[in-house]
Amino acid sequence: MSLDVPLDGVVIMEAPAKLNLYLHVTGRRDDGYHELDSLVAFASVGDRLRVEPAPELSLKIEGFFAEELDADTGNLVWRAAEAVRETAEITGGARITLTKNLPVAAGIGGGSADAAATVRALVQLWDMHPTSHDLSGLALSLGADVPVCLFGRSAYMRGIGEWVEPGPALPLVFLVLVNPGIPVSTPAVFMARQPPYSQKSPNLNETDDVTDFVDQLARRGNDLEAPAMGAAPVIGEVIDALEVAEDCLLARMSGSGATCFGLFKSREQADRVARDIRAKSPAWWVESADLIG
Ligand code: C5P
Repeated sequence: MSLDVPLDGVVIMEAPAKLNLYLHVTGRRDDGYHELDSLVAFASVGDRLRVEPAPELSLKIEGFFAEELDADTGNLVWRAAEAVRETAEITGGARITLTKNLPVAAGIGGGSADAAATVRALVQLWDMHPTSHDLSGLALSLGADVPVCLFGRSAYMRGIGEWVEPGPALPLVFLVLVNPGIPVSTPAVFMARQPPYSQKSPNLNETDDVTDFVDQLARRGNDLEAPAMGAAPVIGEVIDALEVAEDCLLARMSGSGATCFGLFKSREQADRVARDIRAKSPAWWVESADLIG
């Protein structure tokens, strides 16, 4: 999934958008974190990270959503770089450039995907050979979604995000992603999710039939949709816009929102619907993409 292009010591890594195809909240721990049961997959759109050797760590952010983020030491990319550097006891640095194509605080794991891509890129740049155990501990310390982003393929995510199990091979299916431009606070949405919690579900039956796959997904949901809509009612409009679109098989919110996705049988259908929604709501971020299993 990640694209590494070594070029004179330069490493380029994709940070694909993460989608929760379903997301159930199954409990709440004493420390306030919530237990999840989710099938995660990735989209063919994402941020991009470029790292190259340098004496010090530095971070520059460019791209459509660059203005939304500070390139300071609080940035998840910076924190990931520091964590890798400490683990490897590296004294040198890296010049990091993040191209921010994904909306921020959007439920598609932009920050987590960037952190995971930073870890992967620096492990390669600094020729490290960490165990997967070391890497998953480091990833979890950066955020609950980082381990699954580091895994980078379709996966079931359980616990607060520390249990990542390979997911099923996915049928060929295409996406329209829509974000209404309202950032949503993940902690606030989780806090608004009150008991009773969902039961843990068994894994889906693996199938290459899109209709069967979508039927199985339709029997599950995103438990954070209602609390997120409480904070940002426009999410309801986004889901409606996808649901009423011709050929849309399923429309759902990802993560804690506000990005929603629609599933389609063909790329042509997804492209057409993306064009239509963009024309009707020019302020929204709308992308068609492939679903990567
Ligand atoms: O781990 P991360 O920094 O991404 O989480 C942000 C916030 O989202 C947490 O502080 C917590 O309030 C909430 N959260 C949660 N349960 C999860 C993941 C996140 O309650 N599994």
